[in-house]
Amino acid sequence: MQHLSKIGVLAVVILLSAITPFASAQVLTEAEVSWLQYMREEEKLARDVYLHFSELFPNAKIFANIAISEQAHMDAIKSLLVRYHVEDPAQTTGVGEFNIPEIDSLYKTLIAAESLVDALKAGVSIEETDIVDLEAAMAATTRLDIDRVYNNLLSGSFNHLEAFELNLLNLNGTGQKSRIGK
Ligand SMILES: [Fe+2]
Repeated sequence: MQHLSKIGVLAVVILLSAITPFASAQVLTEAEVSWLQYMREEEKLARDVYLHFSELFPNAKIFANIAISEQAHMDAIKSLLVRYHVEDPAQTTGVGEFNIPEIDSLYKTLIAAESLVDALKAGVSIEETDIVDLEAAMAATTRLDIDRVYNNLLSGSFNHLEAFELNLLNLNGTGQKSRIGK
């Protein structure tokens, strides 16, 4: 009996050693890696555009407030990049600097807004894009921890979208219902 239980323990040890390398390697698919890197840059885009507008329109507190939230979103993606040993595209870039050319050109377009109305509309556009991209990123992963982070960011984006739309409506009635809405 004792002999049998020793064999049992040995079998468990062999089984665990066979499973562990796969469990700890935490290898993501190419799509999961590129979405994580893209979303890290996209959250930075949101933060940096809102920081820009918070300086341009200091009385519109919405930009500084939401920039804080976007920093938290950046940090949430960063924790996934660290967990999965994925290179961080925003590791050394300053405010307004991006390594993904598409995001860099989007930043330049968005900060061209000169009026408060156009800045709020840029906010709407950022959040709508964020929602579409987060949903695509969620569809490209089966990992629960990544999905959970994306889902939290998605809730944040819906809240931000609503806040920008309300500000537009309050400003001068120029707000239009988002094509995504809530
Ligand atoms: Fe946002």
